[in-house]
Amino acid sequence: MRRFLFLALAAGLSACASQPRQESGPVDQTPLSLIPMPAQLQRLPGHFRLDASTTINVAKGDVQAKRVANQLQGWIRQARGITPAIVEGKGKGGIALATTASVKGREAYTLDVDASGVRIAANDETGLFYGAVTYWQLLTDPAAHSGVPAVHIVDAPRFEWRGLMLDSSRHFQSVAEIQHLLDQMAMHKLNTFHWHLTDDQGWRLQIEKYPKLTETGACRKPVGPDVALTGGADTPYCGFYTQEEAKQIVAYAAERHITVVPEIEMPGHAQAAVASYPKVGAGGKKLAVSTDWGVNTALYNVDDGTFTFLQDVLDEVMAIFPSTYIHVGGDEAAKDEWERSKTVQAKMRSLGIDDEEQMQGWFIARIGDYLEKHNRHLIGWDEILDGKVPASATVMSWRGTKGAIKAANAGHDVVLAPSPTLYLDQLQSTLPDEQPGRPSGQTLKTLYDFEPVPTDITADKAKHVLGAEVTVFSEYLPNWYRTQHAIFPRMAALAERTWSPKADWNGFIARLPAQMSRYRAAGIVPSDGAYAAAIDVAPATDGKATVTLSNQSGYGTLRYTTDGSAPTAQSTAYTGPFEVSLPTTVRANAFAGNFGLAGPRDREIDAASLLSRSSDELATCSDKLVLRLESPEAVDGRRPVYKVDIMDTCWMWKGVKLDGRYGVAVTVDRLPYNYALWKDTKGIVSRKSRSAAGELEVHQDTCDGPKLTSIPLAKAKDGRATLDGILPKREGTHDLCFVITGKPGPKLWVLGDVQLR
Ligand code: ACM
Repeated sequence: MRRFLFLALAAGLSACASQPRQESGPVDQTPLSLIPMPAQLQRLPGHFRLDASTTINVAKGDVQAKRVANQLQGWIRQARGITPAIVEGKGKGGIALATTASVKGREAYTLDVDASGVRIAANDETGLFYGAVTYWQLLTDPAAHSGVPAVHIVDAPRFEWRGLMLDSSRHFQSVAEIQHLLDQMAMHKLNTFHWHLTDDQGWRLQIEKYPKLTETGACRKPVGPDVALTGGADTPYCGFYTQEEAKQIVAYAAERHITVVPEIEMPGHAQAAVASYPKVGAGGKKLAVSTDWGVNTALYNVDDGTFTFLQDVLDEVMAIFPSTYIHVGGDEAAKDEWERSKTVQAKMRSLGIDDEEQMQGWFIARIGDYLEKHNRHLIGWDEILDGKVPASATVMSWRGTKGAIKAANAGHDVVLAPSPTLYLDQLQSTLPDEQPGRPSGQTLKTLYDFEPVPTDITADKAKHVLGAEVTVFSEYLPNWYRTQHAIFPRMAALAERTWSPKADWNGFIARLPAQMSRYRAAGIVPSDGAYAAAIDVAPATDGKATVTLSNQSGYGTLRYTTDGSAPTAQSTAYTGPFEVSLPTTVRANAFAGNFGLAGPRDREIDAASLLSRSSDELATCSDKLVLRLESPEAVDGRRPVYKVDIMDTCWMWKGVKLDGRYGVAVTVDRLPYNYALWKDTKGIVSRKSRSAAGELEVHQDTCDGPKLTSIPLAKAKDGRATLDGILPKREGTHDLCFVITGKPGPKLWVLGDVQLR
């Protein structure tokens, strides 16, 4: 009966290439750490043990199977130090790979493991590759220490677009780093690498016909902490990919069944191009490559010369990238320059177009026609819907899911990449050691809970959802270390939600520790923020404090020490808030059995720390554009990070118990202010200051409440400093508001921490 039910399930997906050879005996029930979880997995009795005599068997002439056999051989060598021979013809036992028409569907495969061997079958090479990936995951699963458990897997992806977008404009990654990323994408069965190659802050692809695009457009002045990368404020930040390197990446990706979709932004995000060739700009001004994050207003012109330029660029792009889809951006094209330009306005009149959004539609449609003539297909961010866009255009929804709903209901194919959920530059934890970035809190679970088909797409239009991708915009990701931290392990959540038919968060979070081990074995440094211990402290009576432990995912057993030693699987298990005497250092970690799930976290607790707060621990007064920014200057080898609303420099310390007169020490810092806020500049909060440098003021209860002290910032000169003030005698519990007077920009004063004494 069970067997019948299983076959009925399997028939819905594909025919089975081979039937499991049923053994008798108990079925190993140790959970298997597969990510993404296969569509159908049946556990069977028995195990297969790989040893030095194991061979990989492919039929003579099955060149696809032979290629995958070579790849699998390399993975096995890395995982086990064994190099199985590849046997063409009828091998016995071992690992058999075969393409076969009996498995239906692109990318689909079957995988059977029993005591005699492993059989992977698929209709195409990609399916075989994914079957091999699944076998490699079984092999590198801690559950496989006494052999890979017998399974029958029938698998195929839920979506055809399973992607990751990498921004190489704001910060640049080396070819080797991108290859490292592609290796990981392949092992997650992701198949689309969307490569954001041009933007205001850098043009990163060599175009032979227009050499200035990289001579001029690939360099900018270092922005803030970039100085540490270039070695000096006057040393430009430069980088681009030669066409040879781009082709190398395309080939490397193709070997891993990944398509590279290039993105050439237009009509906005064009400043690096306009800086290189001012004639293609609509503003008629000489511009430098931008050093401001945000919405810059440089737009392409709309004359025939500019289209010739763009078409020439696209010709070279199409020659490098075989992808059917070519991404042309289309987002955040502020229309100021078109509104002001007499020639653009004249062109609009001649076309009978009376608004600039429709003009963008005309622009994108013209490029779309060009691509279609070359048998390519336009994809753009959801702003392309604001104008009249050709029905054949595919829409990438980033302003939430609205764009996807509108586009799919209008019959366009769509890819979901909604901000902030799928934006990996959004920080994933509130741990004090989290890296700089955008602190909206897109946790592993937030991402996992994302359903790629919005409910507002009508059932008959759901077929237009091609899939989803995460984006890695790199303003705050200046190096590969930070980029990895942003991507891993959240990429695993996307992989599962775009591949597997069912969401299973509890299963996923339990399967992930094995995946984290695979990352480390591959030299990837993932974030452990989903598991790491957060240590919260509140004052208690008589020189004591109450400590509360938690971790974001709630997975694992929290254990801690108070004697300074590293927590182990034998340390005290956390059962609820506990009291410690001052001073104490609490160290904590989450464990699954003997396995430490994260790096241990520490907190030193003493009388002074109970009366201090970092900017992370304070609330911002508004939520206009909150960032966690790092100081350009290191303190003890680390650059401090500050949480600040760059449009309203104001922080609240809620519920402070005051019982007398206090000295207050406030650490402030001064950061570069490099933001293009376009129309949002209207929302910047400016506060009356009494001196040119401004003041840090402390107000009682609300930010307009009684001023308790005003500390001149002139004392801090132009960098990090700790300034002292005196708060008058107050009793009871009050909120304290800390504001910086004046207006943010051209530099930005920030609050580091506050200490009452
Ligand atoms: C985008 O984030 N501007 C697509």
